[in-house]
Amino acid sequence: MTKSPVNLEKQQSIGIITIDYPPVNALSQSVRQGLVDGIKELESDDSIKAIIIRCAKRTFIAGADIKEFGSTPLEPHLPDVVNRIEASTKPVVASMFGTSLGGGFEVALACHYRVALADVKVGLPEVNLGLIPGAGGTQRLPRIVGTNKALEMVTGGKHYSVNALSEYNLFDAVFESGSDLDQQTIAYVNAMIDNGETLIKRVGEQPVNDTVEDWDTAIGALTKKSRGKLAPVVAAKLLKRTTNLSIEEGMKLEREEFLSLRTSEQSAALRFAFGAERTAAKTQFDAQPLSVKTVGIIGGGTMGSGIVTAFLSSGFEVILIEQNDEGLKAGTDRINGNFNANVKRGRMSQTQVDGYLAKLTTSTDYQSLSECDLVVEAVFENMDVKKTIFSTLSQVCKPSCILATNTSYLDINEIASVVERPEQVIGMHFFSPANIMKLLEVVKAEKSSEQAVVTAMAVAKQLKKISVLVGVCFGFAGNRMYTRYGREVQQMLLEGASVSQVDQALVNWGMAMGPLAVGDMSGIDIGVSARRAQPFPAFDKGYFKPSELMVDAGRLGRKTKAGYYDYSNNPRGEADPVVAELISEQSKALEIKQQTFDDETIVSRALLALISEGLQLLKDGIVQRASDIDVIWLHGYGFPRHKGGPMFQASQVGKEKVSQVLSNYRASEGALIWPEVDVDLIQ
Ligand code: 3HC
Repeated sequence: MTKSPVNLEKQQSIGIITIDYPPVNALSQSVRQGLVDGIKELESDDSIKAIIIRCAKRTFIAGADIKEFGSTPLEPHLPDVVNRIEASTKPVVASMFGTSLGGGFEVALACHYRVALADVKVGLPEVNLGLIPGAGGTQRLPRIVGTNKALEMVTGGKHYSVNALSEYNLFDAVFESGSDLDQQTIAYVNAMIDNGETLIKRVGEQPVNDTVEDWDTAIGALTKKSRGKLAPVVAAKLLKRTTNLSIEEGMKLEREEFLSLRTSEQSAALRFAFGAERTAAKTQFDAQPLSVKTVGIIGGGTMGSGIVTAFLSSGFEVILIEQNDEGLKAGTDRINGNFNANVKRGRMSQTQVDGYLAKLTTSTDYQSLSECDLVVEAVFENMDVKKTIFSTLSQVCKPSCILATNTSYLDINEIASVVERPEQVIGMHFFSPANIMKLLEVVKAEKSSEQAVVTAMAVAKQLKKISVLVGVCFGFAGNRMYTRYGREVQQMLLEGASVSQVDQALVNWGMAMGPLAVGDMSGIDIGVSARRAQPFPAFDKGYFKPSELMVDAGRLGRKTKAGYYDYSNNPRGEADPVVAELISEQSKALEIKQQTFDDETIVSRALLALISEGLQLLKDGIVQRASDIDVIWLHGYGFPRHKGGPMFQASQVGKEKVSQVLSNYRASEGALIWPEVDVDLIQ
């Protein structure tokens, strides 16, 4: 018989239910059963006056067990479990620490008392998984914090500190963080019993004391903000519908909505994304990461200063290297600017920032990098310059130092060729702005050691970034796919789609921005010059021609107030007939067949281009798994999280359909543009 993850213990007149179900004490079927059995047994024991629910190891219950969501719900269902806890005839006390989330918070809300360590985080993050709370969260929370606050908490899915909720009667006692929670909880419960204060406070029996004044406006605003995500809107509408209902009626409606979202495509995509992010950080390497404390960054431009800001914000010592004092001044100004923006937005206090900046030193002398554990080069994309830098690093850095380049396109094997210990060389490809964007591509070159790779991935974790391991090729995984996506977008322009039609179709589908608006923002010349450094694919006569036209016409994007859009009168950009004309003339000259486009065709073609390139990357062994590609697109390129990522979309569309559409494209444009792919690589 398998051992139950829920144990019972009696300490005089206190019954203690302990959940010990690593890693995060999620509410699997066995935990739910153990809770029900535990309450039943302790209730029937006359010597027991009060019950504590506590958790072993790292956290109080972090939620329902996400792994169970793909299969049929098993009894006892969580709503029945929480109702059973609330119905207990003996007072039940939740002893909370770590993260008490989703179903875990719902268990705590059903307890009659809640005590916690001061650094506990609580919340209902179900919307992040495309769900709503399904075990009374939408019904009990408003009875404690009011409907307005509950609306914010349920639809926003954020984690809340004790301080953030201090104005509500959520916690009956809060203990100093780091103190002995078990000891304090037992003392608290003993005092309750000794003083005869064992009132059974059932949240479900309390009234809701407020309402949202204008539900329609609130739901309208939320619908707009959610950009196609269903769960927050469903949650808000449910709160509205149930505001005057009893807990039983409210929970019945809540359960119906929860179960319907549980089988939705959006929830499947969001749950997939949750798992994919955690899988991406795993490699098959046994090597242990080196300890990294001091990091050298070469180059204080936009990218370099963002990287410095990211390292400082995570407590590393940083040495910034620039060519001269002016370069250092400009770099430190940018770093200060990044930190000031954080202070202004309330993300950091000035005292925190002062602490971070105290760990920054600057120098124009590479010798000062001699004791660094890691150096990240972030200068402009020029192979000769990078080789010179790396051969210097090879001389000045200690032998164990990891030497990383932030190049977006260049061949890291060639960079490593000038270094005495090429096994120390890797790519750490940050995304701009590096202090904000979560993605980090860790690039393993031919000779990179496993230790260098795992060290970079461990550093990424310390930086609170999501790292994905990729191999060397032009653009690595993300930018190589972005080039293929861009090619398709440009081709559609040549075939008669308008700039705003393409952008709008993709934004309506869920992309954070249209690709042409992105081009204008980052500068059309950047992509053009990177591509001009590569041989032109003669088989593709329209290859990025619209972008070439823009650059030749001096339309580089926002920085010249004109690109694919015109920014002279409107900072958000307006369609410009001149652009349409330039592209149309080019199409005629190239004799490109015209067609009419609808949104579906635009999205499908852009997506299929991504899927096709993703399958190539898998075949070439550039990425470890299809889900890694999705993580890259979710965190580096504004792919809608509730659509899971391009490869997740491929699995939704199905291998057969993908194969059929790709062969149609291959038949019309040729196998050089739409190569044969192995659709069995779709998971
Ligand atoms: N179910 C199953 N496994 C879970 C889990 C859950 N709810 N939450 C986390 N895990 C697993 C992770 O997959 C990971 O597994 P791995 O080691 O095999 O990769 C492990 O626990 C550790 O997770 P993290 O790497 O994320 O650890 P962190 O310390 O960084 O974060 C956390 C911990 C804050 C709890 C984070 O994991 C988290 O946010 N989890 C999800 C919480 C959540 O969404 N809860 C609501 C679930 S839905 C629900 O409760 C519905 C209910 O209303 C009916």
